Amino acid sequence: MKKVYLIGYMGSGKSAIGRRLSYALKMPYYDMDREIERKLGMKIPEIFETFGEEHFRALETEFLKEFRDEWCIISTGGGTPIRPENREIMRKTGLVLFLNAPFHEIWRRIRTDRNRPIVQRSTREELQNLYNERKKIYRRTAHITVNTEGRSLRQATEYAA
Ligand code: S3P
Repeated sequence: MKKVYLIGYMGSGKSAIGRRLSYALKMPYYDMDREIERKLGMKIPEIFETFGEEHFRALETEFLKEFRDEWCIISTGGGTPIRPENREIMRKTGLVLFLNAPFHEIWRRIRTDRNRPIVQRSTREELQNLYNERKKIYRRTAHITVNTEGRSLRQATEYAA
């Protein structure tokens, strides 16, 4: 296996589970958002504000292309699978896991988050609608769906591994 991609909505536990999975499977771990931030020397809200969301989406694709040959675990951004090109790269170069959490749990985790521009600009209803739309894409993109509801981080990681 070459890579493991974790996909799912904001606040679904991609980074937390990714780090634990990396430890359990002894594979290097990359958080796509953090890598993009490091490369640009800017935080995500600043990138959205300065260059716009479309440019950020292009940076995600660029990241996926650059990391094509590495053996690692990657937690993606919640919007990464929106682009068909990104879906294709992920499915071709690795195993795609969808971390499926119910919206009410996600809402509890992200509602006060200042580092996610999409949360900042949207109402709860808008975020719920986006969640419903994206869930179909996550399901179609993933090789495996991991239901995290009612599972602790440790249990969810063991289940994913
Ligand atoms: C986004 C999710 C974020 C980050 C950016 C856009 C999205 O990542 O990439 O704020 O469109 O859902 P997380 O899923 O890690 O919050």
